[in-house]
Amino acid sequence: MSVYLGIDIGTSGTKTLAIREDGNILASSTVEYPLYSPKPGWSEQNPEDWWRATQEGVAAVLKQGDIKPNEVKGIGLSGQMHGSVFLDASYEVIRPALLWNDQRTAAECEEIEKSAGGRKALIKMVANPALTGFTAPKILWLRNHEKRHFDLTKQVLLPKDFIRHRMTGEFATEVSDASGTLLLDVKKRKWSKKLLGLLQLDPSLLPQVYESEEVSGKLSATGAVALGLHEGVPVVGGGGDQAASALGNGIVKKGVISATMGTSGVVFAYSDEVQIDPEGRVHTFCHAVRDKWHVMGVVLSAGGSLQWYRNHLADAEVAAAKVKRVDPYELITAQAAQAPAGSEGLYFLPYLTGERTPHADPYARAAWIGLSLRHGKAHMARAVMEGATYAMRDCLEIIQGMKIPVKQIRLSGGGARSDFWRQMQADIYGKKAVTINAAEGPAFGVALLAAVGTGAYKDVVEACEATIEVVTQTAPEPSNKRTYNRLHPTYQHLYKSLRKDFCTIADQLEE
Ligand code: XUL
Repeated sequence: MSVYLGIDIGTSGTKTLAIREDGNILASSTVEYPLYSPKPGWSEQNPEDWWRATQEGVAAVLKQGDIKPNEVKGIGLSGQMHGSVFLDASYEVIRPALLWNDQRTAAECEEIEKSAGGRKALIKMVANPALTGFTAPKILWLRNHEKRHFDLTKQVLLPKDFIRHRMTGEFATEVSDASGTLLLDVKKRKWSKKLLGLLQLDPSLLPQVYESEEVSGKLSATGAVALGLHEGVPVVGGGGDQAASALGNGIVKKGVISATMGTSGVVFAYSDEVQIDPEGRVHTFCHAVRDKWHVMGVVLSAGGSLQWYRNHLADAEVAAAKVKRVDPYELITAQAAQAPAGSEGLYFLPYLTGERTPHADPYARAAWIGLSLRHGKAHMARAVMEGATYAMRDCLEIIQGMKIPVKQIRLSGGGARSDFWRQMQADIYGKKAVTINAAEGPAFGVALLAAVGTGAYKDVVEACEATIEVVTQTAPEPSNKRTYNRLHPTYQHLYKSLRKDFCTIADQLEE
């Protein structure tokens, strides 16, 4: 039997998946680890935790699926994008990694735009504006604030590429994740020597760039011992979690879009060419499909907003769920369903950790607006779900405005598991929403890439066609669709009204 492993270094944990060539899942394991926030707006993890979780995850799937080490024919890696792992000359981790949702680099983003000759010039070079979550501003932050650490740094790696180094000894990345560093010439699919020069960053800090299905290295003797596998197993490039998840959703041709409602929310569209939003509100990155690109909008706290609600405001539902042995989200969404579409005038802005698309504003904050005596918890929970979904619609509208066709929306992530949220998404997007058989996200996408890279399929499109099919379809409910079409502009206007106040609040916190 040929087995392919997909390993996704996520923010809450590492997921390891073992599949057969036909896409059938043999075993799956998730190993969690902590996230540290030493200051407001900072978000860090210890890369050694990821490596430990990878070792535990591989051991668990081999055992669970009764898989012999010699059956593993290829490995694909995926991970949270944009994170920065700083390694010294002996390849040891210098400090905790700064993550995608870390917001400390506003000043460095300005510095990058200035060095590049302005925002427009920067977008021309690397297809994207400087955003606080991206990797380049993190490297500059280290140089500006921890010079001693910067001077020790010999390699900067993305999360999954740190794991690749532990497995193979190679310093390598691939085009989809590299796009999110802000240092890749996205059009040419190579590091931008020009921008590196302008920022005075030594190109030797960065790993070699591969296409996503290319073999980037083989399991070394030490990597093989650590994982309980055989030396020499090919490790393909893999993909940033969003591109990998899109492969897992079959987003490999025009017209099919995915909407993934996880902690972050992502609307992802495939593109045959480099398409750029001149305002830089959506990201234009290389796709994990050779010579193809993608456009995506990222909502920082989508499912994360409901998770926050569960953690802080739903004690009763969490306790009741324990007694009934059900998932607390089931009780929270059942309660939300008692309020009507539009939550009777209550809106929720989901900007708990600032926002990327469409505002690129690290200072934006969340709020319920419109509360009255009439409102209770049902309205509040429903408004949270509606706010997160309106934010996804904002992304979708920008993508449609770029003349990218939207024929079908494939839902995934936690938001696709609930009937209620699936219907709400179809109503708010105003389009038919479908789910597919492979709900395993990025780990599935990169396991497929491993199968492609080691010759089991001709290419990624063939692999997706052989393994992925639509399993549910949800059409918009006409009267809810009309309600949401009427209310969405008000939701959009509320941020504009509050933008300056959010800056004042941030200033007051600094005082
Ligand atoms: C994508 C992004 C997040 C992270 C974490 O640009 O920042 O989706 O990859 O999953």
